[in-house]
Amino acid sequence: MPGKVVLAYSGGLDTSAAIKWLNEKYGLDVITLTVDVGNEKDFLAARDKALAVGAVKAIVKDAKQELVTDYIFPALKAGAVYEGRYPLATALSRPLMARLLAEVALAEGADAIAHGCTGKGNDQVRFEVSVAALAPHLKVIAPAREWGMTREDTIKYALSRGIPVPVKSGSAYSIDENLWGRSIECGVLEDPWTEPPEDVYAWTASPAKTPDQPAYIVVGFERGAPVSLDGVTIPGLGLIEKIHEVAGRHGVGRIDHVENRLVGIKSREIYEAPAATVLVAAHQALEDLTLTKEQARFKARVAPEYADLVYNGQWFTALRQDLDAFIESTQRFVTGEVRLKLFKGQCCVIGRRSPFSLYSHGLATYDQGDHFDQGAAPGFIHLWGLPVKTQAQVQQICTLPANKPEGV
Ligand code: ARG
Repeated sequence: MPGKVVLAYSGGLDTSAAIKWLNEKYGLDVITLTVDVGNEKDFLAARDKALAVGAVKAIVKDAKQELVTDYIFPALKAGAVYEGRYPLATALSRPLMARLLAEVALAEGADAIAHGCTGKGNDQVRFEVSVAALAPHLKVIAPAREWGMTREDTIKYALSRGIPVPVKSGSAYSIDENLWGRSIECGVLEDPWTEPPEDVYAWTASPAKTPDQPAYIVVGFERGAPVSLDGVTIPGLGLIEKIHEVAGRHGVGRIDHVENRLVGIKSREIYEAPAATVLVAAHQALEDLTLTKEQARFKARVAPEYADLVYNGQWFTALRQDLDAFIESTQRFVTGEVRLKLFKGQCCVIGRRSPFSLYSHGLATYDQGDHFDQGAAPGFIHLWGLPVKTQAQVQQICTLPANKPEGV
């Protein structure tokens, strides 16, 4: 009886060719798994195509809800943005897909999983490290890394096996998308000096063509998770979709980033992440109001660690669980509302409020109602400045020369 392999299947040329290749090269029966992470595909067509090409079984799973609650929201609470620019859409979807691949492999009695990644990217690392954590006995096969075919070769291979090849063989770009963001690489974008042509963008309007009136929105949070829009409670997935729509219409969320891949390559990436751009800014603004200076500073050191961990495929690790415990604790009072203005590609926070706000009007105001005790300031300054004064007296590191006034 031939062995079985579960293949992460997108419906595209490479993973379709991989069905046949796994069959021919390793004599494996291929079960395909196509995961709906909000990438607006025709999932039924993908399933039919997998079966037509020769898969013994084709599974489609809707994982949108899980992506939002178990992957995106923890990263949002952590403030995780890779290299300060990339909100990690692709990177967050990979451990989820790896988990579903491993689960299907166990349920179907397969002893391997396969993915369509090449050997140059981050995604191969994320899939394989995640599978190693979840089901270390599973083998991993990466056809596109092994077969050594160029795109032309792959097209020839597909045609010779009766696999449908798109008429104009794909767009000039390599695109990955899910409900948190869209990533575009290759083609003219490989020259980091070249401005991205307008046809790169699919989710965001060109700021030159956005409405002349700004959109004002209010996002509500509970314990760090977004829960409402303009006062109406909406579950996470629907909330992201609504914010995506309004932010995209106003051209918000375009990111042009030269990023450092885990495998040592610098790569020029364009991202469209309208909902992520709004929610990251709003969440940060609410933390500004509800965390102390020390909590915020320490959390800001954790954020890039968390982002690197997600980017580098270390989702299923003890460290991620430890950081989540810390971050969850920091979110106890991150409840309230943030008001944003979306206009001509810009997203600006223009207001924030919370029942747990640490902002005290009585302390901050210069008007009536000031109850800050200004009489306490001299004593504070005396003690705060004491070491500076002592050093000045003893070591004179920057004391001015004591010039006598003329004629004295
Ligand atoms: N550079 C991003 C990451 O490593 C996106 C990679 C997928 N993008 C693509 N166009 N295939 O997470």
